[in-house]
Amino acid sequence: MTRIPHAMSDEPNPLRALGLDRLRRRTSMKWRAYPDDVLPLWVAEMDVPLAEPVVRALTDALALGDTGYPAGTGYAEALAAFAEKRWGWDGLAVERTAIVPDVMLGVVEMLRLVTGPGDPVVVNSPVYPPFYQFVEHMDRQVVEAPLGPDLRLDLDTLDETFRRVTGGGRRAALLLCNPHNPTGTAHTADELAAVAALADRHGVRVVADEIHAPLTAAGVAFVPYLSVPGGESGLSLMSASKAWNLAGLKAALAIAGPAAAADLARLPEEVSHGPSHFGIIAHSAALRDGTGWLDALLAGLDDNRRLLADLLAEHLPAVAHRPAEATYLAWLDCRALGLGDDPAEVFLRRGRVALNSGTPFGTGGAGHVRMNLATSPELITEAVRRMASALD
Ligand SMILES: Cc1ncc(COP(=O)(O)O)c(C=O)c1O
Repeated sequence: MTRIPHAMSDEPNPLRALGLDRLRRRTSMKWRAYPDDVLPLWVAEMDVPLAEPVVRALTDALALGDTGYPAGTGYAEALAAFAEKRWGWDGLAVERTAIVPDVMLGVVEMLRLVTGPGDPVVVNSPVYPPFYQFVEHMDRQVVEAPLGPDLRLDLDTLDETFRRVTGGGRRAALLLCNPHNPTGTAHTADELAAVAALADRHGVRVVADEIHAPLTAAGVAFVPYLSVPGGESGLSLMSASKAWNLAGLKAALAIAGPAAAADLARLPEEVSHGPSHFGIIAHSAALRDGTGWLDALLAGLDDNRRLLADLLAEHLPAVAHRPAEATYLAWLDCRALGLGDDPAEVFLRRGRVALNSGTPFGTGGAGHVRMNLATSPELITEAVRRMASALD
């Protein structure tokens, strides 16, 4: 794997900026789903203030009354420049992009372009639960090709699954999560090229959800699926929403490889009516001017991953865990604790800490929990203390 250090940032760690009192005033899902005595480290929202360039862009737009419809390709241009600088990828062509309301609706629309009703969509379980819900809701059939025991893509399983689902000439797609939620696995260039070769051999189309792309740990490279040999016929979804905490400011980009341009061109016009002008202003400002803030965040997340490993070793040594290569999520194997399939339920009821239960992530999720590390070291410490107290 290519090892690249994080750039040093002069900016303060945004994960240390907000106290619990301020956070509890938030009205978003993370802070409103549970009563106030529960510490929430579940849904993928971050406990950070907005990056200053994003605040400035939004405030300027508000002052101008610039609240109409989006125009132009500024978001795609900002992402193309970010991709080139950050990942050394110059293959993001603005003319092969489309704005979409958010990543999951983009996923649905890309799958609609390359599959028909009833067709199989392969996912690598355990994986982000909406991959099941959204795909089933659009009348496709989810087929699991589980990750291997090392939590990496299992190419033999993928090969066998592709062969099975394409029997009789059926159309099929792979919905790839790169980097992978919940395990934080950053797929390597070799792994992705092998996936592309398998997909090509079996006639499977690849749709890559790359929403967590900017959130790599120190020394880990993110590799865009469309950048690997064979990735030219892929479709990718990217967004600034995870890395800069902008989920409430709706926008994302669908990106086609050169051999998928004709597919993206069939995207119904109304899909690009969904993203908000405000979302696009915020996302573009983040990608263009928010990299100092991002570097400070990434350094803080590296610290949090180390802190979690130390805390687990001290207070919950039976919990198995590999520090994530990307994302701000931690995937904890709690099977040795003897808490059954849903340890998150026990941690919530007895410890008053909210984590994601592993079971909705599909095969491989039972006995696991997902913890959100995009918070302060103090709250991570308190969360592990509460988890340990649930076992008393
Ligand atoms: C892998 C993955 N895809 C998509 C989303 C949701 O993105 P959006 O809000 O843009 O639909 C998330 C949110 O956590 C995610 O982890």
